[in-house]
Amino acid sequence: MKGLVLAGGTATRLFPLTIVTNKHLLPIFDRPMIYYPLEVLAGMGIREVLVIVGGKGVGDVVELLADGSHFGLDLTYRYQRGALGIAHAVGLARDFIGDDAFCTILGDNILRGEPLAGVAAEFERGPWGAGTLLYRVPDPERFGVAELDADGRVVGFEEKPARPKSDLIPIGVYFLRPGAFEVIDHLAPSGRGEFEITDVLNHYIAGDGLFTRTYEGHWTDAGTVGSLLRASELAGADHGAGRLTPPPERPVG
Ligand code: DAU
Repeated sequence: MKGLVLAGGTATRLFPLTIVTNKHLLPIFDRPMIYYPLEVLAGMGIREVLVIVGGKGVGDVVELLADGSHFGLDLTYRYQRGALGIAHAVGLARDFIGDDAFCTILGDNILRGEPLAGVAAEFERGPWGAGTLLYRVPDPERFGVAELDADGRVVGFEEKPARPKSDLIPIGVYFLRPGAFEVIDHLAPSGRGEFEITDVLNHYIAGDGLFTRTYEGHWTDAGTVGSLLRASELAGADHGAGRLTPPPERPVG
């Protein structure tokens, strides 16, 4: 399986913190935000990772992560012009992915406590075209929101609904196969002008090909001032465990 980390976007919700720097470089407890999603992919046993970069401080992101060998990873970069949405950013990975299954993780997602190697392997072995992890939150209107039927099965996702149909959201971890690029090719932009990952997931629900699991660890995004603080608290609660070894303490190059 290959990996994809999305570190583009404009991060306007964090202004003034992100006026001159890239959100994914901001500190979360004892390391830069982007280390956390990379650590999740490394924990799945993934080595080849494409980092989608965009917005401010792209050179600083590359300078920080370099070729990834100090993390035991093999990193490649692709530039996203404009913040056209998560599905658009995923679409830029087509050549890098080739014929492999892949895990996409949003660069501002912090996951603690549940290792995901088993979940990744289950998806890879299985018949599903796509998959995501579900998590219960108190403020679902900020996210994609799952709609469930009477048996608790997901029947659809809505992106940032004014009236959420549940408190269960797809977190920013998406298991995909190359067929997703065809789906992305046929997407139309949403009302907010973005190509939405929830539309990709909905495509697979219709075809009964969506893999979902509840994430049993602790999760937060870090894209707002409140969640940025929660992310540091969450990462600090286990004293920053799960760090990539050897610790990349020094600048590379
Ligand atoms: O965190 C989980 C949520 O992430 C999901 O529940 C939503 O369904 C999903 O749409 C997403 O919502 P957000 O509004 O939080 O996404 P945001 O625009 O903050 O982007 C998340 C990350 O993706 C961010 O770290 C930067 C990256 N990104 C975003 C966009 C819009 C890109 O690389 N390119 C982009 O064009």
